[in-house]
Amino acid sequence: MIGFPKETPVPDIHSLAATPLCHLLGCRQPLILAGMGGVARAELAAAVSGFGGFGFLGMVREPLALIEREVAQVRRLTDQPFGVNLIPAGTARALLRSQVDLCIALGVSAVELFWDIDAWVIERLRSAGITVVHQVGSARDALHAQAAGAHALIAQGVEAGGHVWGRQPLLPLLDEVLGCVGIPVAAAGGLADGRDVGRVLAQGAQAAVLGTALMATTESFAHEVHKQRLVSGKAADTLLTEDFHVNWPPHAAVRVLPNAVTRGERGDPFTSAPQVIGEEEGRPIYLFSTDSPLRSMTGELETMALYAGKGIDRISAIVPAAERLRQIAEAAAAHLRLVGNAVQPLASPVCYAAEVQQGERQPVVAALQDLLLRERALTQLVFESLREAQGTALHPCLASLLHEQAKACGVLVRALRALDARPDAVPSGLCEQGRSMPDVQERLQWLTGVRREMAQQWQGLAGQLDGSCALACAEVSRLYQAALAPVEMGGD
Ligand SMILES: Cc1cc2nc3c(=O)[nH]c(=O)nc-3n(C[C@H](O)[C@H](O)[C@H](O)COP(=O)(O)O)c2cc1C
Repeated sequence: MIGFPKETPVPDIHSLAATPLCHLLGCRQPLILAGMGGVARAELAAAVSGFGGFGFLGMVREPLALIEREVAQVRRLTDQPFGVNLIPAGTARALLRSQVDLCIALGVSAVELFWDIDAWVIERLRSAGITVVHQVGSARDALHAQAAGAHALIAQGVEAGGHVWGRQPLLPLLDEVLGCVGIPVAAAGGLADGRDVGRVLAQGAQAAVLGTALMATTESFAHEVHKQRLVSGKAADTLLTEDFHVNWPPHAAVRVLPNAVTRGERGDPFTSAPQVIGEEEGRPIYLFSTDSPLRSMTGELETMALYAGKGIDRISAIVPAAERLRQIAEAAAAHLRLVGNAVQPLASPVCYAAEVQQGERQPVVAALQDLLLRERALTQLVFESLREAQGTALHPCLASLLHEQAKACGVLVRALRALDARPDAVPSGLCEQGRSMPDVQERLQWLTGVRREMAQQWQGLAGQLDGSCALACAEVSRLYQAALAPVEMGGD
């Protein structure tokens, strides 16, 4: 058995404090194994959960017998909780339904989903008492997953290895998602050492999700050839490509290390005849498929998808997962101690004006909290209106409004963090006037008017803050003042 008895606190003083997301998942440390298809099998998931983190088995498209076997194997190796990762959009419907039913029958405690948001799957899992975690790549998807009933989210930055859904770098994305939703959010993409993890935790993420860093471990099911490429590879060499597409919905980008396929040496991925380049227990592996080289495969391993995230520069050896996690947890805890467990702006200078002394801090925090509540409520209303306006001429206008709203919420969350404050929970009942308007165009005009009025509040904040936050607030204020109602824009 890997791990410690259920009621024993983590003995290591260097461990990271549990977050509400840890309580939801039943783990002790805010470190999550990404549900990597093929790679995250029982041995690795058990090692991560046994350490006190949370392991997700990567079970995309896997047959029921394999899922059953892997779940049983984790349970033999550890008594700690773990979950299963599924991808509805990448799985045939009949198989997906039976995978979901199997997770329920097996009493899996948490399921992580990715790619398109499938409300049916979320509802089915939720109603069976399973904790649903959804990985997203934009604030809009975060709102969508929350509305569909996800209990928690993973914000995936473009730095991530494997399939990459959004195009935003992790840090701004995380601010926006934290700004828009009221459920716990974890961070993924390019996180490979303690400093990376400490930073996202300080930024408000409730856990760090590690893919590539845990693929480069003894227990991962990746083939040795792939692991060695991770050790020798460079982040600058990784690229996003749609070349590995067989088995997946079209236009899906993956981050990989370069090989003959990405250099164009194996022909056109979209017009070439199917070609078998390997096999796994009798199953053919096709050129341009999304399969990455696994322990169980033979063939042209270097020609398969060599998934890698941008954190690989910080991976220099293949080590046992517990050792990698211990090093990461210690260094992350040290980073958090160094920054006083408080929040530090990451890529930006200090945000609050030097003259905001302790006594003056409270009113600024209150003003930020107040504005954030209003902006979140507006964002929610824009999101609901966007869904109603699907297929109409108002849709693009609402989509760009939602984008602006998410950015505004992100600015406020960052400013609050700089003042060492966390966002308040969102009360219901805000924006009722707008919500009561049945006509979307009328609602959009109301929203634009409200935003114009709020421009003053943003301008006032800009005067109380400093550095990048002041600039960002002034920018939002300008944007709001300049906002034109859809009628003025020529919308109908
Ligand atoms: C080898 C590999 C396979 C992956 N497979 C899946 C998958 O099956 N399901 C999923 O939700 N995400 C998958 N991902 C993406 C991860 O969930 C996560 O976003 C990513 O690993 C985080 O970035 P990092 O690799 O830089 O840590 C995969 C990533 C890698 C590296």
